Parts: sequence; C-alpha cells; structure tokens
Amino acid sequence: MNLNILVLPGDGIGTEVTGEAVRVLRVVAEKWKHQLTLREGLLGGIAIHKTGTPFPSDTEKLALEADAVLMGAVGLPEFDEWPPEKRPERGLLGIRKTIGVYANLRPVRSYKALLESSPLKNHLVDGVDMIIVRELNSGIYYGTPRGIYEDGPEPRAVNTMAYTWSEIERVTRMGFELARKRRKKLTSVDKSNVLETSQLWRRVVVEIAKEYPDVALDHLLVDNCAMQLVLSPKRFDVLVTENMFGDILSDEGAILAGSIGMLPSASIGAKKPNGVWTGLYEPVHGSAPDIAGQNKANPFGAIGSVAALLEYSFGLNEEAAAVNRAMEQVLASGRVTADLKPAGTPATTEQVGEAVCQAI
Ligand code: IPM
Ligand code: MN
Repeated sequence: MNLNILVLPGDGIGTEVTGEAVRVLRVVAEKWKHQLTLREGLLGGIAIHKTGTPFPSDTEKLALEADAVLMGAVGLPEFDEWPPEKRPERGLLGIRKTIGVYANLRPVRSYKALLESSPLKNHLVDGVDMIIVRELNSGIYYGTPRGIYEDGPEPRAVNTMAYTWSEIERVTRMGFELARKRRKKLTSVDKSNVLETSQLWRRVVVEIAKEYPDVALDHLLVDNCAMQLVLSPKRFDVLVTENMFGDILSDEGAILAGSIGMLPSASIGAKKPNGVWTGLYEPVHGSAPDIAGQNKANPFGAIGSVAALLEYSFGLNEEAAAVNRAMEQVLASGRVTADLKPAGTPATTEQVGEAVCQAI
C-alpha cells in the first residue's frame, strides 16, 4: 500500500515524540512492504515563528493532499498572553476543521504493568477499556459570535456553543458503530438539564439509537460522568460527547491509563475517493515545555497514534496490532520514561522508541 502521510511535529516535546513515532512507522512500512511517502509541515508556535501564522497555507495544502496527518503537539509559553485567534492552538483548530475530522477517538485503557502508576486503587483501574468519542468540528470551540468586547461599561467576553442536528448525528453514528464492534454499550454525555445544545444532542442520540437496537444506550450528565469516570470506570465502553466536554473528560481519563503520556488519539473525517479515511493522529498530551528538549517525554501516546493511523485510515489491522503488541512488550519490560515511575533508571524517549522498533 502507498502510505502518503504529512508529519507535523509542532512544538515542545511534539518534535521528540513524533520523531519516535515516525521511526516506528518506517519499521512497519519496511516489514510489511508498504511504500511510505512522508512530508513535513509547520503547525503551531514553530509556524508562527517561521511564517507569522499558526496554520500556514502551505501546511493547509499539504494536509489536504495527504492521506493522513501525524501530529505532535502545539503550544509555547511565549504565546501565553496572546489572544486566542493568534495562538499556536488556533493552528490545531484550523487543521481539524479544514480536513473535516469531526470525530476524535480517544481510547483509554489500563495496562497491567502500569496499575501502580495510577493514583486510583488497582481494583478500580484494572480492566478499564473505553473509547471517548469527542465531537471535534463544532461546539463552543468554533461557535460565533465570540470575542472580548471593550466598548461597554466594563469588558465583556462571549463564546457561543452551537450544534446542528447533522453535526450531532454524524458523531453519534461513529459512537454507535464503534460500540457495535466492541461491548455494545454507548454512553452519551451532555448537560441537558441546563443547555439547549445538550437537549438537541439527546434528541438526536435517541433518534439514531432506533437504528442500533443491539447497542445498549444510556445518558449521563457531564458532571456525574466526571465522577463516574473515577468511581467506576469499568462501566464505560464507548462514550460520546460534545467538543469541550470531551476535551475535559479525556484528560481525566488519562489518570486511568497511568499517565497522560500514554494516550493516543485518532480524529476521523470522511472516506476519500481512494478508499482511505481522512485522519489526524496525535497524542492527547500537550507540548510540555517544562520537559521539552530533554529526551524524557513518553512517546507511547505518539506511537499509539501511529497504530491508530494504520488501523483507522488504512485498515492495516495486522500492522496496527503489531505496534500495540510491541508497546505492551516494552511496557512489561519496564523500559519506560520517568512519568511511568519505573523501578530502575528511567529510559529516554529515544530508548523507548528504539525498544518498540526492536519488538516489532
Ligand atoms: C486537546 C488539546 C487541544 C484542545 C488544545 C491544545 C487546543 O487540549 O487536543 O485535547 O483543546 O482540543
Ligand atoms: Mn485537551
């Protein structure tokens, strides 16, 4: 197969973990005889430094041409005081919208080797296996009007949470389809006791559920869901929710996996004419400027994102499974980075990447 991939390392530890992810991708391509075409682009803070904008038009063009995009992380402290529309993060929102990846899949699972890394009791975490499906192209991240208005008696800020029926429907379907292939349980998360967007959300989910009688559906309010995630995380199979709720709940979910450095993500859009699914793959963690450039970031989130890329965009299930198995092997061997609190000397980012390549 021809794997035509755009790599956007981004900022901070993004470049380090993406380096290892690409190394793994090359090993897979070589072993299974796929032709790998890699291109690299600028996104986020580095793009602002080099071009003046977080999502340059060159990157936009490359992203639209590629089959799939592999991304690191965006965000740099020197832009902390900048307004939202100029910040590195806006680059990420731009690319998500431009390539239309509306469903962000964030698998959260526990690993036997990491039970001690989670602050939660082992019996709560052991056996956790869920996917958070986060709506990624709409909601309060994109709604208008938005802005800070200084023209009244005092400064006033506005953000808008808006959803259309079809925006809810497509991500809901993704949730049901995934649940169907797993333990057939879908939990829809909203705030329908307060928000109109959530009331529409619930209406759509209930309507679409009629087409999936084999999937057990329940609804949770987001505040209760935040509690249930740490109280009884094993009750969840697939969870579907709007953009900002999904952002918040998935960071909480990271606690179940032992470290946010473990979490991969896959953002999926439409199927292309060549049969490949549009996808953007990135670890859930951020650019972590405090540890950037020190070769100690955990590359598993990025490497897991490569597995997701192989599976979801290209349907290469065997290759994806091999990457996941290799990661488990390395985890079990204890050669892991400092965030996972290994017994001996922590491994470097590069050593973990190398170990995964060897295991494949
Ligand atoms: C994430 C991140 C991003 C988001 C930021 C960096 C814009 O937190 O992918 O979870 O909020 O979507
Ligand atoms: Mn987030």
